[in-house]
Amino acid sequence: MTFTSLLCRSATYVATKEVTHRSFLLFFRQPVICCLNLCELIVKLLFVVCCGIITVLLIIHKYENLDNFKRTLYYRYAVDGEFFAQPRNVAGERIDWHDYELMEDELNRRGPGEQGRPYKLTNGKDIELNAKLFKENGYSAVVSDMIALNRSVPDIRHPSCRTKQYLKELPTVSVIVIFYNEHWSALLRTVYSVLNRSPPSLLKEIILVNDHSTKKFLWGPLREFVETELSPKVRLIDLPERSGLIVARMAGARAARGDVLIVLDSHTEVNTNWLPPLLEPIAEDYRTCVCPFIDVIAHDTFQYRSQDEGKRGAFDWKFYYKRLPLLPGDLEDPTKPFNSPIMAGGLFAISAKFFWELGGYDEGLDIWGGEQYELSFKIWQCGGRLVDAPCSRVGHVYRGYAPFGNPRGVNFVVRNFKRVAEVWMDEYSQFLYERNPQFAKTDPGDLTSQRELRARLKCRPFKWFLEEIAPDLLVRYPPRDPQPFASGRVQSVAEPKLCLDSLNHQAKEPIGLYTCAMNKTHPQNNQFFTLSYHRDIRVRSNDKCLDAAKLNEEVVLFSCHESQGNQMWRYDYESKMIIHGKDHLQQCLDADLVRRKLFVRSCDKTKPSQQWNWGYVNFVHLQNWDVYGAKFL
Ligand SMILES: *[C@@H]1O[C@H](CO)[C@@H](O)[C@H](O)[C@H]1NC(C)=O
Ligand SMILES: *[C@@H]1O[C@H](CO)[C@@H](O)[C@H](O)[C@H]1NC(C)=O
Repeated sequence: MTFTSLLCRSATYVATKEVTHRSFLLFFRQPVICCLNLCELIVKLLFVVCCGIITVLLIIHKYENLDNFKRTLYYRYAVDGEFFAQPRNVAGERIDWHDYELMEDELNRRGPGEQGRPYKLTNGKDIELNAKLFKENGYSAVVSDMIALNRSVPDIRHPSCRTKQYLKELPTVSVIVIFYNEHWSALLRTVYSVLNRSPPSLLKEIILVNDHSTKKFLWGPLREFVETELSPKVRLIDLPERSGLIVARMAGARAARGDVLIVLDSHTEVNTNWLPPLLEPIAEDYRTCVCPFIDVIAHDTFQYRSQDEGKRGAFDWKFYYKRLPLLPGDLEDPTKPFNSPIMAGGLFAISAKFFWELGGYDEGLDIWGGEQYELSFKIWQCGGRLVDAPCSRVGHVYRGYAPFGNPRGVNFVVRNFKRVAEVWMDEYSQFLYERNPQFAKTDPGDLTSQRELRARLKCRPFKWFLEEIAPDLLVRYPPRDPQPFASGRVQSVAEPKLCLDSLNHQAKEPIGLYTCAMNKTHPQNNQFFTLSYHRDIRVRSNDKCLDAAKLNEEVVLFSCHESQGNQMWRYDYESKMIIHGKDHLQQCLDADLVRRKLFVRSCDKTKPSQQWNWGYVNFVHLQNWDVYGAKFL
C-alpha cells in the first residue's frame, strides 16, 4: 500500500461524506481526482524546494562562501537594535554627554596617584618587591597596587572639547580587552576606568579575554571577582591555549554583542567623556574606524600625561611604526577627527558590521605583529576611513621592559609581515624584502582566502593608498635609502689616531672616541657612521642617531626619529666642521680629547678639536645641501 493510494482513499472518503447522493459518480471518477490532488501537491512541494534552493543560492552569491555568511550571522545576531540598519540622527540632534557629577567627584578625590599624579615608593620592602615585579611586568606593579582602581586622571583635552556636543543617538559598544599575564591592579584599573567613564546606555559590555595566562590569579580568583563584582557588564573568556593577541581579539569580537567593537590594551585608563567622540564618526558612517589620542602612563610612577597633541600614524620600510606630522588644516578645528594612515594598534573603535565585512583580522597572523598594518591597509584600500579623534583620550602604560619571550621559537613577526605585504602591498613589498634577507627565507603560508577577500571587496591598489592617504610617507621614508652625504669613519683632526666610536653603547648612552679602525670607508660597525639623507648621523652598530639636547651637552645615541631637530647635522668639508642643528645656532661637534668625550659647543673655526675627516664624502650632495636630502622641517 503506497502513499498515493492512501491519499486517494481519504479523498474519496471526504467526497463521499459530503455529497452522498453523488457517491457513485465520485467513486467512478476517483482516479482523476486523486491524480489532480497529487499533482497539485507535487507542484507545491517543488515550488517550496525551488524557493529554498534559490534562497541558498542567493545567500551564497551574496556572501561568496558559507564562511562569510557565518561571519555575517555573528554580526546579525549580535546586535539588538541594528543601529546601522536604519537611518539615525536624521534631525542631527546633539547633546552634552559629560557626566558632571563624576567629573566633580573626581576633582575632589585625594590619595596616591589621584588626578594622575606620579607616585613614588618610599618603603624599602615595597621598592624591593617592585624591582622583582618589574621583571615580570615591565612596569611598577607595586605602585599600581598603591593607586585606587578607580583613580581620577587629569582632563587634559583641548579646552574646546569640554563644550563639544555629540549626536544623541550613538551605537552601543563592546569593549574588548585581551590580556596575557597582566598584573591584577593594572588590568582592573582598565576595567574600572571604562565602567566609570562610559555612559551606561552606550556600554553594552566589557569582554575580557584571557589568552591562557600562566599567572594563577588570572584564572579562579579573577573569574570569581568578575562574577561577584563586575557581572553582568563584564564577561570573561578563557582561551584553551596561548593564541596571541590577534586570535584572542577575534574571539572577543565573535562574542561581542554591541554595534561597535572597541579594542583596548589591558593596561590603559580612559579619560573624561572618551566615548562619544569615538562613536560619532562611526554613527555617521559605519565604515569609519576611530582611534583615541594615546596618553602616557609612566611605567615607573603611573603619572598620567599627554604624549603630544596629535600625529598621523605611518611605517618605515623596516615596518617599524612611525608617526608623521599633521597636514595643514588637520587641526584647524582642534576637536575634529583627522585622517591617519596607520593605527598604533592597541586602541581603536570600529563597527562590528565593517569589521566583519573586512573579514576581521587575517587569522593566519600569529601572536602579534603586523596586525595594525593589515587592518589599516584594509580599511583604507577597501572603502573605509581611519581617523584620530582628538577629544577622546586614553592613557596607556608603555612598558619599560619587554617581559614576555617568544612563545613560538620562530620569527613569527617576519612571517606576519610577509603575509600582510604579499596580500596588500603590491609592488611595494619588495622594499621591505630588500631591507631584510629573512623575508626571502620565510614561508607566509596559505594566502588564498586573504587574496579572495581583496578581490571580492574590490580594494584599491597600495599605490593609491600611499599617494592619496600618506603622500608625505614616501618623502620622509623613501622606499630605497638615497645616497648619504658622507659615510665611514669620522677621524679627529686634532688627534688623528682617534675616531668617533659608539663604544657599542645603546640608546641614551654617550658616544666616545677610540683608536681609529684601519679601513676608513668601511670600518667596523661601531665606527661606521653615515651622514644620511635624513640629515642625521647614524651608527651602523645599533642603527641609532647622534643626538644633542642643547649647547655644551654631551652627545648621546638615540633612536633615529627622522625629524631633524636634536638629530640634525651638517658637514662643512671646507672648514671640516660638523654643525649641529640649524646653521644660525652656530653649534658644532667638539671633542674633549683627554676624557674622550663629545660635546656640542659654540663653533670656533680655530679649534682643531672641532675638525673632522669623514672616510667618504659625497661632494656633489654636500654642495647641494639645500636641495638634496630630506626636506627641512
Ligand atoms: C571607587 O571610588 C569610590 C569613591 O569615589 C569608592 O567608594 C569605591 O570603593 C571605589 N571602588 C574601587 C573598586 O576602588
Ligand atoms: C675597505 O673595505 C672595503 C669593503 O670591505 C674594501 O672593498 C676596501 O678595499 C677596503 N679598503 C682598504 C683600504 O682596505
